[in-house]
Amino acid sequence: MAVDLEREGGLAVLRLNRPEALNALSFAVLDEIGAALDAVAAMAGVRALLVTGAGEKAFCAGADIKELRHRSLAEQKHGAELGQAVFAKLDRLPVASVALVNGYAFGGGAELAMACTFRLAAPQAAFGLPEIKLGLIPGYGGTQRLPRLVGEARALELILTGRTVPAAEAERIGLVNAVAEGDLLEAGRAFAGRFTRYSLPVLELARRAVQRAGDTALQAGLETEADLSTLAYRTADAEEGMAAFEEKRKPEFRDG
Ligand code: CAA
Repeated sequence: MAVDLEREGGLAVLRLNRPEALNALSFAVLDEIGAALDAVAAMAGVRALLVTGAGEKAFCAGADIKELRHRSLAEQKHGAELGQAVFAKLDRLPVASVALVNGYAFGGGAELAMACTFRLAAPQAAFGLPEIKLGLIPGYGGTQRLPRLVGEARALELILTGRTVPAAEAERIGLVNAVAEGDLLEAGRAFAGRFTRYSLPVLELARRAVQRAGDTALQAGLETEADLSTLAYRTADAEEGMAAFEEKRKPEFRDG
């Protein structure tokens, strides 16, 4: 198995574990990630997912180039659709995810990180969409998610030059939420702890509403926001949250 999935209380931890190939994404690894995400979605009591890579060097060095080279066109199309579908599953998971980028995140590895809700980077982490250097373009969502995160001009610069972005720059341009010194897993637990205390269904509505902003024109997005914010308002947790505010006490959310 090249993907490990562990449970730590309210957290699930998915770790790419193929360090000898810098955690590169073969078809088999993509299938394993998809299966692990299905397992996370079915786990009762999980409130967030942490995604990271085994080994000192890499979060994930992208699509497995050795496998990629020998694909037929039909297999390549299948590969792009498979990668996109697995990363869409991550993006649409019922719980938020935090990529803990422990090293290189190139090509499909950067795309995996971008499909997570949040990204934390170790100081030695580095990002890039170097496909252009292989005569390719990103195929697992990078051309769509990168401009949404950093703006079109920066995304074009990074995709057309394939250059490497160090962690500090990634933070400055909004590609990662923060650079974390020290134990990255511990930083991930602390980061997740800042939102997992809140109502799970309301967190999901908030994520869906924000995702819609990237998916659609402003007016349609505003209509979605009106619908989803009304759905949130109807939850018992919203009633509890507003009551607690007025009563000057801490709310007790019950995920309903
Ligand atoms: N696919 C398959 N194997 C890979 C790999 C990849 N993407 N990246 C690294 N490896 C393998 C290497 O071939 C090497 O294996 P061997 O020991 O058997 O030769 C092993 O992992 C260690 O890698 P290096 O010796 O190259 O390590 P390094 O520290 O010298 O360099 C690196 C690290 C700069 C990340 C370099 O490995 C590299 O440039 N990798 C390719 C990165 C890349 O181009 N990614 C984009 C892939 S295309 C894509 O992802 C398309 C898409 O949109 C989905």
